[in-house]
Amino acid sequence: MPNRRQSFIILGCFVISVVFLLAAASKYSTPRVPEPPRPPKYKPNPDWVPPPVKDNFPLLHSAASPDSLPPIPKWNVPIHNAHNTTPLNLPVAPPLFIGFTRTYPLLLQVVTSYITAGWPPSQIYVIENTGVQQSNARGLLSLQNQFFLNHTALTRILGVNVVTTPTLLSFAQMQNFFLSLAYQHDWPYYFWSHMDVVAFSYEGGHGGMTPPYHDPGYKSIYTLALEALQRARNEDSKWGFRFFAYDHLSLVNRDAMEDTGAWDVMVPYYMTDCDMHSRLSMKGWSIKDERAGIITDVASALADLSMLYRVGLEGDVQPEFVDPNPAKPQPPGKKHNKRNEALESERERRGLKIEDRNAEEDDPNWVKWRKLVHTSDLQFQHKHSDRGRNTWQLGQHGGKGEPFYYPAAGLAEAIEVMTETGREIYRRKWGHRDCDLIGGTLLKFDDAWMVRKDWSR
Ligand SMILES: *[C@@H]1O[C@H](CO)[C@@H](O)[C@H](O)[C@H]1NC(C)=O
Repeated sequence: MPNRRQSFIILGCFVISVVFLLAAASKYSTPRVPEPPRPPKYKPNPDWVPPPVKDNFPLLHSAASPDSLPPIPKWNVPIHNAHNTTPLNLPVAPPLFIGFTRTYPLLLQVVTSYITAGWPPSQIYVIENTGVQQSNARGLLSLQNQFFLNHTALTRILGVNVVTTPTLLSFAQMQNFFLSLAYQHDWPYYFWSHMDVVAFSYEGGHGGMTPPYHDPGYKSIYTLALEALQRARNEDSKWGFRFFAYDHLSLVNRDAMEDTGAWDVMVPYYMTDCDMHSRLSMKGWSIKDERAGIITDVASALADLSMLYRVGLEGDVQPEFVDPNPAKPQPPGKKHNKRNEALESERERRGLKIEDRNAEEDDPNWVKWRKLVHTSDLQFQHKHSDRGRNTWQLGQHGGKGEPFYYPAAGLAEAIEVMTETGREIYRRKWGHRDCDLIGGTLLKFDDAWMVRKDWSR
C-alpha cells in the first residue's frame, strides 16, 4: 500500500496527465487550417526622389589616354620622388588612401582635387569598399547604382590605384584594412582622407608656410604634407596621428597602430574615432594638428570637374555644384539657413574666407583658384545648412538587377542601426557615454571592458 505521501504524488501525476491529454485532444480533435501568411505591408513610396545623377567629368570619361586630360597647373606638378629629394629624406613615399563606398561624383571630385593640387596620382589609393566584388572592375554597374565606380577612368586615365576590399567593410574595418595594406607594402606610415572633401593647395600663399604660387619656394599641399611627416618623424619618437583640417586628411604611424591594437571593429562607425584617439593618447602616442592646404568637407560635387584643371573659368563664369541628393523643394518661407557664428568661425578656421579684393586681382591664375575655393566655401555652407550632413549618400538609388544590388535606403538605415549598436558597445567598453575619455575620465588603456558605467539612471 502506498503511504499518504506516495498517494499524493500518484494523484498529482494523474491530474497533470489528464489536463495534458485534454489539452492535446482539444488541439487535434478539431483540425484547424493554418492561417495563410498575410501579404507584406509595404512602406509608403517616398514623397521625394532625387533626380538621377549626371556625369560630372565628361572629359575624363571620353578620354582615350591620360594625354586627353588638361595638364594640372604647372606650379602644382609634383617633383619626381619628392619624398627623398633634399631637404626631405623619407624612406618611402607615403600612400594616400581614400575609402569609397558610394556616390561616384564625390569620389571623382576628391581624387581630382588632390591631383590638381599636386598630390602624385601614383601615390593615391582609392579603396573600393562597395561589396560588389568584381562588378566595377568588369564594368557591370551603371552610374545610377550607388556603388558605381569607373576603374578605367581612375586607373588608366587619372593614374591612381584602385584596391577592392574583399567584402563590404565598416569604417573601423576599413581603417584596419588600410593598416593591412601598410604591412603588405611595407609602408611605415600612410595618409588617409575622407571621400566627401575637396582639397586645394595654398596657391594664394599662407602665412609662414608658403608664398603664393608664382613665387620661388612655393609649396603644394603634397610638399607641405611631406614636410609635416618629416617633422613628426624627426621631432617626436612617439608620434601617432597628424590631422589636417580636423581629420579630413590624416597621417598615421603604423607603429602606433600596432602598439594599440588598431581600430576596434566592434565599434563600427561613430565613436570608433573617440575610442581610437583615446587609446593612442593613453599609450602616450601624440596626436597633433598640422596644416598643408585648404581641405573642406562637402556634400555636393562640382558640375564639371575639369574646372579643377582651371578649364572654362574665364570671365564671369562661376563654378556650379550639384548635390547628388538635393532636398525636397520646400514651400517658400519655410527655409531657414543656419548661418550662425559657429559656421562663420569654421569657415575662418578652414581658410575658406579669402579676401575678395587683392593686389593680384588681375592675375588670371589667382582669380581662377579663388573662384574654386569660393565655390568650395559655398559647398561647405550648403552641407552645414539646415539639412543632415550625410545626405549625399542617398542620391543614387538605381541599379536594380545589377550584380550585388542593395537598396540604397536599406543600406543607409542598416548602417544607422549598426552605428547605434557601436555607440552602445563603446558605452559598455568604457563605462562612459561621451567622447572625452581623455580629460573627462581617469581611464587607462587596460581599463577597457573592466569598468562599470560612470553615470546613474
Ligand atoms: C569609364 O571611363 C572610360 C574612360 O576612362 C570610358 O571609356 C568608359 O565609357 C567609362 N565607363 C562608364 C560606364 O562610364
